[in-house]
Amino acid sequence: MRFIAIIFALIPLMASAIDLSKEQRAAIEERIQPYSQVCIAGDESCAGGAATTVAGGPRSGEDVYNGACMACHSTGAAGAPKVGDVAAWSNRLAKGMDALYDSGINGVAGSGMIAKGGCMTCSDEEINAAVDYMVENSQ
Ligand code: HEC
Repeated sequence: MRFIAIIFALIPLMASAIDLSKEQRAAIEERIQPYSQVCIAGDESCAGGAATTVAGGPRSGEDVYNGACMACHSTGAAGAPKVGDVAAWSNRLAKGMDALYDSGINGVAGSGMIAKGGCMTCSDEEINAAVDYMVENSQ
């Protein structure tokens, strides 16, 4: 996550080097906002989502899902089982919840499912809550 933040922090610098218009620069800065901002829980001004929250109690499964999982699991990107797709989830559910929690925390080797869906600020409990949320809405 920190590495990614550094890359995004460098984009405006690189952009200025290739002489972008003010409008282009503003558009880029707007696009990278959620990544370049650090949110403190309860801070109303940043709606960056669960993935960027650094303080506070455990987030709900729904919050974690919306912040860190939805990008793939609402669209089916990279072959991710879509939330709400009962058939896609029933096979996976047959493995048992522990196996699904394990996939959420450690990822699925050789697939787009990376450890914790890439949410390195998420605790194991928060990931499990997100898995619960996904499963509950896919039955
Ligand atoms: C970059 C895309 C991506 C993101 C983000 C992502 N997933 Fe996934 N996920 C996948 C893909 C692809 C699979 C299918 C992997 C396979 O079985 O081949 C998957 C599968 C899963 C499975 C089923 C694994 C199994 O053993 O059958 C669970 C559970 C899961 N994801 C949980 C999560 C949670 C929780 C998050 C957010 C914290 C998340 N995913 C974020 C791509 C993603």
